[in-house]
Amino acid sequence: SRTAVVIPAAGRGVRLGPGAPKALRTLSGTPMLVHAVRAMERARAVSLVVVVAPSDGAKEVRNLLDEHSLSDVVVVPGGETRQDSVRLGLAVLPDDIGTVLVHDAARPLVPVDTVDAVAAAVRDGAPAVVPALPVSDTVKEVEPRGNGAPEPVTGTPDRSRLRAVQTPQGFAREVLAEAHERVAREGEGATDDAGMVERTGVQVVVVPGHEEAFKVTRPLDLVLAEAVLARRRA
Ligand code: C5P
Repeated sequence: SRTAVVIPAAGRGVRLGPGAPKALRTLSGTPMLVHAVRAMERARAVSLVVVVAPSDGAKEVRNLLDEHSLSDVVVVPGGETRQDSVRLGLAVLPDDIGTVLVHDAARPLVPVDTVDAVAAAVRDGAPAVVPALPVSDTVKEVEPRGNGAPEPVTGTPDRSRLRAVQTPQGFAREVLAEAHERVAREGEGATDDAGMVERTGVQVVVVPGHEEAFKVTRPLDLVLAEAVLARRRA
């Protein structure tokens, strides 16, 4: 069976500051989404890419991809939450897709070796695979206050057991579809796809991620991303 990638790209990118939807902002002159699609298409295993566009911006995304000679990419309009957007992307996959990778448009510089390693681990039999790195900061759990007030600390997890997870996350198709159906039914949230799969009782495994698979979230991340691109071109 074949492998498809779903790229949720419907987020507004509020934390980056005012401007276009995050996926359409440029890095060294090229939209982040175009970098992300190319990163997926470079992977040997990937035979189909589905982009989930902002619900009011599907036509703009279609035109943008066509302009960059990416007419083979399927575009569908997204939803309110990342979860909704991924579910809408899964809904258009052809029957012969057995492995699904889900990749954030906001991680435009993930190296092809990371993509291939995730896809290979799924094809080798793991139902759910997540690339991740050890965390460098000590992480505290707090009682959130959310208004800038001091927040009481409730715990400090053992750092050596923590991993910061990235994308693409890879899944046996039916495992991911079942997790999304369940979440839609029960109305629970999760910040990543593997988190949803964990709740269905399926074992998720972590493989090594890559520094360059970082998520472009804040203005400083744009500076870093452009520096990485400049180094690659040098
Ligand atoms: O908000 P966060 O950084 O977790 O977003 C991760 C990815 O999910 C981004 O690529 C963003 O465009 C996408 N997203 C989406 N639909 C939403 C919200 C986020 O496709 N409603």
